[in-house]
Amino acid sequence: MEGLNIKWTKPGVPTPEQFELRRIVFLEEQGFSHANEFDNLDIISHQCLITDSDNKLVGCSRIYPYSEKDAWVLDRIAVMEEFRGKGFGLYVVRVAMNYAQLLGAKRFVLVNAEVSAIPFYQKLGFKVDGEPFMEEHCPVIKMTRPA
Ligand SMILES: CC(C)(COP(=O)(O)OP(=O)(O)OC[C@H]1O[C@@H](n2cnc3c(N)ncnc32)[C@H](O)[C@@H]1OP(=O)(O)O)[C@@H](O)C(=O)NCCC(=O)NCCS
Repeated sequence: MEGLNIKWTKPGVPTPEQFELRRIVFLEEQGFSHANEFDNLDIISHQCLITDSDNKLVGCSRIYPYSEKDAWVLDRIAVMEEFRGKGFGLYVVRVAMNYAQLLGAKRFVLVNAEVSAIPFYQKLGFKVDGEPFMEEHCPVIKMTRPA
């Protein structure tokens, strides 16, 4: 998409901008706890931040290797509310899949996709793998797709 900046950072703590986007979407909007959101997987995750040409926060994701060989987890996928419904969400996931593939991914895993977002991920070729379970107050489910 034109005019967007994509910035990946190596595993470590999220940058202040990544932290802010996740805080707004997952803590303020969706009500997850700080401890759940900023878990110990940040330290092993490559984190993506997408901004627009005015440096406004647009979207984010993080990726890290899954326990099964050649599979990578995509999570913390979010688009700021003002940018939703315009295709940015699909773009955020495609950017994450491309980067994971560069790092060797042959399979993508969403370990805790929000059940409400199943149709969104199905548009990207993901299939449900298992039964829903609760993450804090939110029903989530595993989804996967080949790279
Ligand atoms: C889920 C999210 C990333 C989607 O971002 P978005 O920019 O609105 O998505 P897009 O505009 O790219 O949507 C692409 C398509 O998916 C559909 N879609 C998007 N979110 C959907 C949802 N929650 N349920 C059903 N369909 C959805 C859109 O209608 C659109 O369909 P179309 O191509 O037929 O018009 C965004 O709503 C978000 O950040 N939500 C809060 C955080 C969150 O829930 N993240 C997912 C955690 S698993």
